[in-house]
Amino acid sequence: MWVPAAALTGRARFVDHPPFAQAKAAPHAKSPEGEADLLNTATADAARGLLISVRRRLGGVLAPDRADWLHDWPPEPTRAVRPSRLPVLRHLTASPELLCLEWRQTYGVAEMGQAFLDNYGWAELIGRRGPIASMNMLCGFLLLGPKTLYRRHRHAAEELYVPLSGTAEWFREDGGWHAVPPGGVLHHPPWLPHATRTGAEPLLALYVWRGAGLDAKSELL
Ligand SMILES: [Fe+2]
Repeated sequence: MWVPAAALTGRARFVDHPPFAQAKAAPHAKSPEGEADLLNTATADAARGLLISVRRRLGGVLAPDRADWLHDWPPEPTRAVRPSRLPVLRHLTASPELLCLEWRQTYGVAEMGQAFLDNYGWAELIGRRGPIASMNMLCGFLLLGPKTLYRRHRHAAEELYVPLSGTAEWFREDGGWHAVPPGGVLHHPPWLPHATRTGAEPLLALYVWRGAGLDAKSELL
């Protein structure tokens, strides 16, 4: 399992959360009265550490001709976010700093079914909603449970994925299915249909979006 900045992993702030297995899709975690500032400070510290780890990770795996993906990143967390939980977080067995983020789902049960929603979620670190504001790019984490198919979809944004833990199979319309272990890089040009399916192990992957359509929902195919 990928573990970002070691300095962040021991924060007591995250030890008190309920076990992942009890987590529901509650929209927001409740904070005791007077704890909002502490929560935001912890979130900012965690986001800062995640930003450092993510940039280091991308710098280590991107080919030189993709180094432009690391240009013009925002430097600091500026936005308070309220952590939220999803059922898929029962599969997050390390990297507790990811619990400082707001975990979301793009799709509803009518589109994808309950089994998928119980095993799917994403959390934005950089972008329109995450703790590090940017209008030019998005970066965050995708978590899929085992034996889960994230079916063919496409979007206007150009996309990178870097698997952090778990070897999943990745589909590109122009290349078929391929197993990609942690450390590999997936690139999806705008509007290229793609899909992901997990086997016995869950997948935690980093994603980066840039270009057009950063606010647009992916189109299922
Ligand atoms: Fe995508």
